[in-house]
Amino acid sequence: MHWWQSGVIYQIYPRSFQDTNGDGVGDLKGIAARLPYLVELGVDAIWLSPIFVSPMADFGYDIADYTGIDPLFGTLDDFDALLGRAHALGLKVLLDFVPNHTSNRHPWFAESRVSRQSAKREWYIWRNGASEGGPPNNWLSEFGGSAWEYDAASDQYFYHAFLREQPDLNWRNPAVRAAMHDVMRFWLDRGVDGFRVDVIWHLIKDEAFRDNPPNPDFSDGEPAYRALLPLYSTDRPEVHEVVRELRAVIDEFPDRVLIGEVYLPVEKLAAYYGDNLTGAHLPFNFALIETPWRADAIASLIDRYENSLPPGAWPNWVLGNHDRPRLASRIGAEQARVAAMLLLTLPGTPFLYYGDELGMTQAAIPPGRIRDPWGINVPGLGRDGCRTPMPWAASALAGFSTAEPWLPLADDSGPCNVESAGADPASLLNLYRKLLALRRAHPALAEGSYRPVAQSGNVLAYERVLASERLLMALNFGSKTENTDAISSTCRGTWLLSSAVDRPGGPAAGPLVLRPHEGVIISLG
Ligand code: NOJ
Repeated sequence: MHWWQSGVIYQIYPRSFQDTNGDGVGDLKGIAARLPYLVELGVDAIWLSPIFVSPMADFGYDIADYTGIDPLFGTLDDFDALLGRAHALGLKVLLDFVPNHTSNRHPWFAESRVSRQSAKREWYIWRNGASEGGPPNNWLSEFGGSAWEYDAASDQYFYHAFLREQPDLNWRNPAVRAAMHDVMRFWLDRGVDGFRVDVIWHLIKDEAFRDNPPNPDFSDGEPAYRALLPLYSTDRPEVHEVVRELRAVIDEFPDRVLIGEVYLPVEKLAAYYGDNLTGAHLPFNFALIETPWRADAIASLIDRYENSLPPGAWPNWVLGNHDRPRLASRIGAEQARVAAMLLLTLPGTPFLYYGDELGMTQAAIPPGRIRDPWGINVPGLGRDGCRTPMPWAASALAGFSTAEPWLPLADDSGPCNVESAGADPASLLNLYRKLLALRRAHPALAEGSYRPVAQSGNVLAYERVLASERLLMALNFGSKTENTDAISSTCRGTWLLSSAVDRPGGPAAGPLVLRPHEGVIISLG
């Protein structure tokens, strides 16, 4: 079993974790200072959203130097210190690798746009306009408008799947591949434990640049990007060769991991594991973010996902990230407790987004403080609300900074903070701590095989089994008491944990009655 299979990965959005130099933006020294909190929480690895040199048009997802740390976050020495400290504490460190596009201020792009004859012209995707005028084809930017930007100097367009400040690299060009592989080696040589790869399914575009077809399910009011199916601009068959090459670089180093960001239906994730598992170790499974929060929908999702995985492929589960509304606001504070139990007991690697362990809610951002370019381009789609500063204490500015933070603190930053929640046995934070401790004490939770037991009404029950250990999870997705006849007969054993605070442990016998919004873990036998 690899660490990235049994472990829990915690995503940090560095701008919002801990500020140490009083500029209102989090930094690497801040992350280093907070590592003991993560050790106490019980996670195994951290993934840092981008920390590289960037004009910050998309807050670090527009990189101008892949091997330099942005001064806002610190220095390379700060990074080495953070990595060393994390390793000394037994935590792995993953970086965010953004290979699909650079910043428009990257020297490669500056050189590429000089002229059609530039030595770096073919590093990006330049095309002539359509014969009838206008952009080369109908492809849309995920962040609104055409994905093509006209460059008057050379009378050509360049392609950008996201902002115009994020021109896409041309991954059909072997020189681009080689340069980016060297970027990976730079960080792997320094000791990082792997990468989360940004928009991996975007890396190769249709060679003939065919128009994308209309989306028959598009309805008014949806983001304009949804008007077309991104058939020719994403998820092309040739992308798997590129992923295999990234994996080969990872495999030059012992025990590193390759995680790919793929927003596709679960059935399509299988291909990203690669033939004979030579692709990504973990193509992200975001389905829990998108599936209705109901026992039946989640039971069938687990089945679909399990059944679609290639032999030997390791699953993973994500409840939140820096692009999606906060979990506690999506499903409510009571179900956030059930979600914690689900995430940490399903088969596969769990990803935990910073602050979700506190039940942070989606912050309402006043119009004048919107920072996300997507939210500025397409009102209502901004992601600032899930990126607000981590509340550490009940003190001024929540112990995050001594200056006004780059984004306002969420409204819940009063009672919802590490200090207060840590002292409250009933808090979600302490439930996470208990669940993470239980995962360490009972390897069946991380490594055991999965067996569905029952789904009936609001209740979902399943087992994890390893050697002689059999653990039963029963989760109530509803607000009523549930008398779960369907599972009671199997339910003889010991209560290990309830998400309800005042439910004592001890022998479990007789009918299993779940309280409203309660999840339980029972050791059978
Ligand atoms: C996906 C990242 O998660 C998101 O934050 C970013 O804006 C886009 N990729 C573009 O890099």
